[in-house]
Amino acid sequence: MGRGHATKNKEHSSGSLSLPGLPSLLSSKIMKVENRVNCANLSFCSKLYAFRYMLIVCCFMLIALSTLLFALSSEARVAGNCSNCHTMHNSQGGSSVAKDFDGSSFSLTDTPKGNLLIYSCLGCHSATDGNTWQDIITKAPIVFNTIEPTYNTVKGLAGGNFYWVKNGDTKGHNILSPDANLSVAPGAVAFTTCGTNSCHANLDRVVSGAGSGLDGKQGCEKCHLDPKHHANDHDYMVGGLVTNADQGWYRFLSGHEAGIGLGAEGYEDGDWQKTVSSVDHNEYLGYQNPGGYGFLMLGNTTTAYCTGCHGIFHTNQGSQSPWLRHPSDAILPVSGEYANYKTYDPLVPVARPSLDVPNATVTPGTDMVMCLSCHRAHASPDFKMMRWDYKSSTLSEALSGCNVCHSSKN
Ligand code: HEC
Ligand code: HEC
Ligand code: HEC
Ligand code: HEC
Ligand code: HEC
Ligand code: HEC
Repeated sequence: MGRGHATKNKEHSSGSLSLPGLPSLLSSKIMKVENRVNCANLSFCSKLYAFRYMLIVCCFMLIALSTLLFALSSEARVAGNCSNCHTMHNSQGGSSVAKDFDGSSFSLTDTPKGNLLIYSCLGCHSATDGNTWQDIITKAPIVFNTIEPTYNTVKGLAGGNFYWVKNGDTKGHNILSPDANLSVAPGAVAFTTCGTNSCHANLDRVVSGAGSGLDGKQGCEKCHLDPKHHANDHDYMVGGLVTNADQGWYRFLSGHEAGIGLGAEGYEDGDWQKTVSSVDHNEYLGYQNPGGYGFLMLGNTTTAYCTGCHGIFHTNQGSQSPWLRHPSDAILPVSGEYANYKTYDPLVPVARPSLDVPNATVTPGTDMVMCLSCHRAHASPDFKMMRWDYKSSTLSEALSGCNVCHSSKN
């Protein structure tokens, strides 16, 4: 890190708490009050003034407080000063404001960014230490710590952390550099209309020749196709159900082509599972359908979402035991070993046929295994972005997630 690169948020700070306009506004108001009151009795007058002064101060404090509370607590759409995130001219005092992030440090750039933003997706959602899980200024949840994340036992938020793929090619989706082993999404159905370097091929490269909706997309934006940071979805840091395009879909996960206008539905945990328990977690939608892939066939589920790029893993899974590939969105049988999965374990989540607030009960006969029962979405400390170490040479560790459902296999 060289000059001006040290910390992400050094040059701008949140103005929302200090309310800089307040003192000057107050004194000008008091002047007007003074001019209007023409009083003979000076001592009465000064008492009156003191009282009015206090009243005005109280009113202003109330207004300031309510504005502040509204800004902080009401909605999950981005909050805070516009200038925390946007720069109108990419210039302040003659120097640039926008910042590039190269995967290890931040540097000022003269090239303005789309939507007049200060950072790229990765820039806003990254931290150059191991203990930041939410950016202090923008409040962005962190998905990439350049140093091993330490803020919880999962070592990342719900989707996992890209730190792990930077340090192990097979541990996640490669958004920063090419995957050394894979040049296409394993299990991808053949796509002919997606141009060069499509989302189904390399996530680190830029799409071209696919049409205006996709051209130019790279990394994050190949998966989060249509982010809506200003959508009003649910209470800030509390979480809530997200079920439609106006809300930006669950975690901005939507489709294109045949799946256009469709996206994932879910319950978004307020702190993105920074803290997590059987009652404190995301909720995922599931839909048992034997064939097909993508939102059009599988509904607004997260499995549908994954199969948009890994379709064959679902189309070929079969429809009953014996299965040909591990099923996703298959209902846990009510009997046998599956009947023992009763309390929701956020390390091995299930999908539900309909959505509600987080629930600690797992109901075999209703709830389903899904892609995210076994995998993280971004990257994890384990091979193939598994949620536990399935490759461990210790059998009990390797099976630790499998036998949450297959409770007799240990
Ligand atoms: C915490 C960061 C953040 C803050 C604060 C913020 N924005 Fe944004 N804004 C974004 C991001 C990220 C995008 C681009 C992606 C998107 O639309 O989801 C965006 C997009 C926009 C867009 C273009 C897309 C659209 O929704 O129309 C406008 C206009 C905009 N912001 C205006 C504002 C204004 C005005 C403010 C202050 C009231 C503000 N923003 C505050 C992050 C922020
Ligand atoms: C200027 C900072 C900034 C930039 C740039 C930015 N984000 Fe965000 N992003 C945020 C903040 C702040 C939140 C948290 C909003 C909230 O509380 O719901 C967020 C939330 C998200 C979420 C989670 C949504 C949810 O419902 O919890 C996703 C996914 C996401 N951003 C993806 C992206 C992608 C993809 C891009 C690039 C197109 C991007 N972000 C660019 C600041 C940013
Ligand atoms: C392979 C597709 C994919 C890529 C690439 C991807 N995301 Fe995500 N992202 C997801 C999915 C799926 C979820 C939901 C995970 C869950 O709820 O378990 C998610 C969740 C998130 C969240 C919510 C926090 C969390 O951990 O759940 C944020 C913020 C986010 N992504 C931002 C980003 C940014 C920024 C990038 C690029 C650096 C990115 N994503 C790249 C698929 C992707
Ligand atoms: C936009 C397309 C896209 C989506 C959506 C997508 N993936 Fe991938 N996935 C890829 C590509 C491309 C690769 C191969 C290159 C790489 O590792 O980035 C890949 C690789 C993988 C790997 C192997 C990682 C490795 O490096 O060996 C796993 C596991 C995986 N994806 C699981 C998932 C899951 C689970 C979901 C749903 C949450 C999902 N993918 C959604 C494109 C996608
Ligand atoms: C979230 C629950 C869940 C987890 C975790 C899980 N499975 Fe399964 N598994 C199922 C369900 C449900 C079926 C289908 C059962 C049926 O239809 O009889 C299944 C089927 C199977 C089958 C095929 C059985 C047959 O009758 O054809 C095998 C083998 C299997 N799982 C192995 C594993 C392994 C290995 C792991 C760990 C990597 C694992 N499973 C993790 C729920 C799970
Ligand atoms: C029962 C757990 C389980 C479920 C459910 C599951 N996977 Fe996997 N997946 C694994 C394991 C374990 C591996 C590692 C390779 C192996 O053992 O087959 C893997 C490997 C992968 C790979 C890498 C394949 C390669 O060639 O390197 C991709 C991509 C993938 N899974 C995507 C998905 C998608 C998409 C879904 C949902 C349709 C899904 N997985 C559901 C356990 C699971």
